[in-house]
Amino acid sequence: MIVVTCLAPVNIAVIKYWGKRDEQLILPINDSISATLSTDQMNAKTTVMISPNFEKDLLFFFREESCMSPRVQVCLKEIRKRASENLKGKKNNQGIDLWKAHICSENNFPTAAGLASSSAGYACLVTALAKAYNVEGDCSSIARLGSGSACRSVFGGFVRWHKGNQGDGSDSIATQIVPASHWPSIRILILVVNDARKKVGSTSGMQRSVETSQLLQHRASHVVPQRTEQILKAIKNHDFETFAEITMKDSNQLHSVCLDTYPPAVYMNDVSHTIVEFVHSYNKIKGTTKLAYTFDAGPNACLFLQEEDVAEVVATIKQVFPPTNENNYIRGIKVPEKIL
Ligand code: DP6
Repeated sequence: MIVVTCLAPVNIAVIKYWGKRDEQLILPINDSISATLSTDQMNAKTTVMISPNFEKDLLFFFREESCMSPRVQVCLKEIRKRASENLKGKKNNQGIDLWKAHICSENNFPTAAGLASSSAGYACLVTALAKAYNVEGDCSSIARLGSGSACRSVFGGFVRWHKGNQGDGSDSIATQIVPASHWPSIRILILVVNDARKKVGSTSGMQRSVETSQLLQHRASHVVPQRTEQILKAIKNHDFETFAEITMKDSNQLHSVCLDTYPPAVYMNDVSHTIVEFVHSYNKIKGTTKLAYTFDAGPNACLFLQEEDVAEVVATIKQVFPPTNENNYIRGIKVPEKIL
């Protein structure tokens, strides 16, 4: 039996992925860029056991047996295909590509609340499977088959998911732009507004946007290519102000696309909008851009800032949104206890 345990981090997109050109292969209509968090605080954890004695594949989520979704099955199938290609002609070929797998997964943060849990989950699953089945080379394209954004969690630091042009998806992979050490002062603060499961999942939300939003077409062809180049430059030059402005504009455009979708997909709530206002006021008072917000398919805010500003920002957030009950929730905002 082979046993492997892996941890994988969450990634937060600053240029958003929203819309597929191929639903099956999960091929996006535009490039996206993200920052991968460290695994210290928010992570997915997966243990994979493979054995010639297992009769069938099994999946346990938080120790409860759960059904293998088609996406998990696709990832397993692809890993076994790669394993079998690797083993061809090898002497000590034990045929491990045919061994069944028992998979145990969990994550230490809310699932499906717009906190990128699927990105960490599938990245972790695929990394653990690849290690167990001894598969080498790029795994981002396999993680992509689980959940598009997961391909970016395969790498640390700042990461780009190239949309690619090939019909078979072979060039739709993630690559690292720079490691985390390139910009060590960057911090991400997550304000949990609501940790309930979201009403419209990203998969169906973006599908509806592709079908109905003209703004999305304009975004993919005319806005993202230029923004991608600008933010890459800002990241390389440690230019926080440009980085922050593009991040906020891209988040705003994602949610404009969601409203342009018919029927609209509404992810941000009143508290989310209060956070947007707070960030702009804070930057105005400071006379420079100290904070940037970004929202995925949910009401929770991710704030980008620099280490030197963390203490003051956290103190200000606590003042502006003082905790009024034992759960620290005020107007729906949970004051962060951990700085990522
Ligand atoms: C808003 O990767 O969850 O977080 O590929 O259908 O699984 P599927 O969607 P998913 O979408 C994430 C969308 C987003 C933006 C982003 O992470 O780039």
